[in-house]
Amino acid sequence: MAANAATGNVNEHGYKVLTLGNYSFSRDEYFVHIQWPGGSHLMPADRFLRALMRDVAWNFFYGIVNFDEVFGTVNHYGTVDVFAGLFNAGYRSRNKHYVENFDGELARTTLGQILEDWTIEGFDPFAAPEETGIAFGPKRGNNQRAVTRKRVVARRMAGLADDTPLRSDSSGFPINRQFQDVAQDEPEVHAEPGFENEVHAMSLFAYLSRSDVTWNPSVSSVCGRSLCCPTTEEYILPIKHGNDRVEWFMQLSDEIVWEVEDKISGAMRAKVRMRAGDVAAMPADIRHQGYSPKRSMLLVWENATPGLPEMYDSGKLKPYPIEF
Ligand SMILES: [Fe+2]
Repeated sequence: MAANAATGNVNEHGYKVLTLGNYSFSRDEYFVHIQWPGGSHLMPADRFLRALMRDVAWNFFYGIVNFDEVFGTVNHYGTVDVFAGLFNAGYRSRNKHYVENFDGELARTTLGQILEDWTIEGFDPFAAPEETGIAFGPKRGNNQRAVTRKRVVARRMAGLADDTPLRSDSSGFPINRQFQDVAQDEPEVHAEPGFENEVHAMSLFAYLSRSDVTWNPSVSSVCGRSLCCPTTEEYILPIKHGNDRVEWFMQLSDEIVWEVEDKISGAMRAKVRMRAGDVAAMPADIRHQGYSPKRSMLLVWENATPGLPEMYDSGKLKPYPIEF
């Protein structure tokens, strides 16, 4: 396991050059440059930062976070692979792919330093394009508030007394410009005496209408290993998510078009247009990227049962939940 991570010099554009193991990361006014033994890659700075924001905030999420067709991470829940070309048929066929395994905390710390230094004043990598500034230009200030946002992780359910709070104007979460028509009334709960702390309800639509970020499935309620991860989506999911388990999607409002590809090769498998009310099971052997023409609400249902990736890898579980 590679151990060395270092803060390097500041380049002529004012940005830090950082290393993680044998990887070197630098950026200029428009592009991010990634180098590793035997190869290099270039990405637009805005695309890279939007993907990096999620990878860091999600602690590498479930399975694979492809920043694009070349670069990304694989979560092994304790350690993480940082790869180039690993899930790209062209790189693989020429044996040009490169993978380095890191302690998860070390990788997250280093990638977090890149995110903090390279995100300039006015740019918010979690926000919809219409709701933020630009990522380009020489180093100019920072946006610490944006890049240190914590992903919401409820212990039981948002709004409970000892849990993540509901959102309101006064807590800094106004209704989003595209959800002005969403009703804000909350359900009434009449619990039997003694059960006041056991019975709870909330308006998920009202809660989501006040989300200030996009493409950030956050845990709003938990039942055993079952995680309810609703999220609001606008423009393009900044990563291609490679599943390591089945994920259920419920489109709660508006519309998202999904491009579904083979997880390993990237070969196109399906296009899925989901309209409000549609439900889909995204298989464990795919990667997917969503396109949301206007802000929409999506419920992502995650199964956090330990050992699932191994059960899919070994063939013990089929990559889809049902056969017709
Ligand atoms: Fe996914």
